[in-house]
Amino acid sequence: MEPRADIAVIGLAVMGQNLILNMNDHGFTVVAYNRTVSKVDEFLANEAKGTNILGAHSLQEMAGLLKKPRRVMLMVKAGQAVDDFIEQLLGVLEPGDIIIDGGNSLFEDTIRRTQYVESKGLFYIGTGVSGGEEGARRGPSIMPGGSPAAWPHVKPIFQAIAAKVTDPKTGAQEPCCDWVGEGGAGHYVKMTHNGIEYGDMQLICEAYHIMKDGLGMTPDEMHEVFKEWNEGELKSYLIEITRDILAKKDDDGTPLVDKILDTAGQKGTGKWTVISSQELGIPITLIAEAVYSRCVSALKDQRVEAAKHFPPGDPRFAGDRQQWINDIRKALYASKIISYTQGYMLMRAAAQHYGWNLNYGGIALMWRGGCIIRSVFLGEIKKAFDKNPSLENLLLDPFFKKAIKSCVRSWRKVVSTAVRKGIPVPAFSTALAFFDGFRSERLPANLLQAQRDYFGAHTYERVDRPRGEFFHTNWTGTGGRVASGSYTV
Ligand code: 6PG
Repeated sequence: MEPRADIAVIGLAVMGQNLILNMNDHGFTVVAYNRTVSKVDEFLANEAKGTNILGAHSLQEMAGLLKKPRRVMLMVKAGQAVDDFIEQLLGVLEPGDIIIDGGNSLFEDTIRRTQYVESKGLFYIGTGVSGGEEGARRGPSIMPGGSPAAWPHVKPIFQAIAAKVTDPKTGAQEPCCDWVGEGGAGHYVKMTHNGIEYGDMQLICEAYHIMKDGLGMTPDEMHEVFKEWNEGELKSYLIEITRDILAKKDDDGTPLVDKILDTAGQKGTGKWTVISSQELGIPITLIAEAVYSRCVSALKDQRVEAAKHFPPGDPRFAGDRQQWINDIRKALYASKIISYTQGYMLMRAAAQHYGWNLNYGGIALMWRGGCIIRSVFLGEIKKAFDKNPSLENLLLDPFFKKAIKSCVRSWRKVVSTAVRKGIPVPAFSTALAFFDGFRSERLPANLLQAQRDYFGAHTYERVDRPRGEFFHTNWTGTGGRVASGSYTV
């Protein structure tokens, strides 16, 4: 057969299959391949029946069907499987061809793989693809990075199949996909997306927890609240699915959500985000709490035991329910602003560290549609970066500054009442603690530096001397005069 296919997709799990069908809908000829080859025939006979999708039963056959430069997209499990396929593909592709990894790969692996594939004369793209099954089929958010030379060859396909949103500035329909940057930039941005996704989910869960235990509301009542919230500034995919989840009944007619075991799973992208933040010294406290909250939830047996030793008091909040619902919405909104502020601080630090030229407004646009964290809120972030492309911190944008100020009373009220009543609100409260720390001109770190200098001669700077001059005090009179070097990790 003559080479007539535009792209090959390897991996026929749910994301792979749906991306192929999406590409086919947009007029591209796709070759499908899977390690267990019988899956190819199964796919062609069922989901892909009546389409232009081609099947390959070997990598050689697949390569022979592709127009040059060949574009091969891996939709396989992140990790060793990606390295194994790269090795095999290098045997059937040739210089100038493009290998694309569309899984949730660790950005450091993508940096390494880009260098490796480029050293063989081919090009590499590591791309985030978000939106789950439906996104893959109808329009995901796509965040590609890697070899810049590969982008023009992949752009028409990716931008055609991506979700579209209206650009607030131009009014044009823009694809939720654009070039992110070199090496691991695409996967870094996807990882941060997932970290923020963890944060958004945890915030929603805390709002639910307060409404359930603090206000004694039923899932049906909370369904109405989320329905209303989805009409306003919180309008987003995650609020929308929460609304629907709360209305869902089990076979016996009772709310399904109440029957679901309260232990959360995780596949690691939230953890990676926090690890990277530690490496870069950026306080993404909300995402960290969201990851740890999943870890606490997983300790089910220990929690059941501890609950016997420390039985809860009355968690009910006194006062007007509607007023509380309003306060909770504001606490959620303010915390969400903090979470995105932190996420953007992380990306800015990573860009500097890894030498990426990230377009922050462009990222907001990519996340505005198609992905799991899509929301009207991201439209506001896009506007903030459009107004000021070099905006250092989201919190200082006039829109978000005003929004935080209008929420702060409710936020404090909700956090303090939840703390008094024993309802855990780690994300709400860490967001507030970050806010209070970040807006503090003077923190108690003067004392901390004194402690470090006391026991380890770690030195300190003084408020009455220029920055960069370091001092050591012989606090006890018995220490020596030698100070330890001052360096910051
Ligand atoms: C997406 C999602 C997706 C991932 C979920 C699940 O953007 O479409 O982020 O990549 O499947 O985030 O992750 P956890 O299992 O870690 O919750």
